Amino acid sequence: MKIAVSYLKNKNGNEKTIEKLGHTSCDYIHIDLTDGLFAGEKNYQIDTILQLFKNVQKPLDIHLMVKNPKKEIEAFAILNPAFITVHLEIEDLENNIKKIKGLGISCGIAVDKDTSIEKIYPYLKEIDLVLIMSVKAGFGGQSFQPKSLEKVKALMKERKEKNLSFKIAMDGGINDKTIKDIPKDIDLVVSGSFVCLEEDYEQQIEKLKKAGN
Ligand code: DX5
Ligand code: ZN
Repeated sequence: MKIAVSYLKNKNGNEKTIEKLGHTSCDYIHIDLTDGLFAGEKNYQIDTILQLFKNVQKPLDIHLMVKNPKKEIEAFAILNPAFITVHLEIEDLENNIKKIKGLGISCGIAVDKDTSIEKIYPYLKEIDLVLIMSVKAGFGGQSFQPKSLEKVKALMKERKEKNLSFKIAMDGGINDKTIKDIPKDIDLVVSGSFVCLEEDYEQQIEKLKKAGN
């Protein structure tokens, strides 16, 4: 189980938080971007994100909670992210998947808390990652919804039956308690406030690893 850390909610400011995460053992930095249309409030400018990450060495996991993410996909490709994830619920999904894949980047699709898992089945062959939301997309610091574990199990079953190879990730409300209920063979978990609202990030990441494995 790999660990991505979201800096969405932090107490040291974005720049310092990202710098500190670079010195931890997390596997990815998870970049949560909300546009105020699809989810949350607009929390970014493209140029600011490019500036923030231009010298960051950790692999990047970009989560676009954005209604029309074409511009963002094109701009962030320069950061050479490990994944760009868009939402299943957006309108032009098929073209956005093609765009991400066409840029040579692994493509994720996020399934929001109230979306049924079967809706993603038609896309599973062409994508690299499914991000199951265990909170409603938009804000950090919400509580984990155990019902989303059923989606993870259904997806694992589908992957096995169809002999597919996409990765499965979970995002939202993950801490050293909630992680215990997540299947051990999930590929990736995203944790935000549990790590970045404390002083010692590495200690928090170690707690996650211990409880999740
Ligand atoms: C929710 C975001 C999550 C979230 C994770 O909209 O996609 O990545 O910030 O943070 P916590 O762990 O605080 O829920
Ligand atoms: Zn996220």
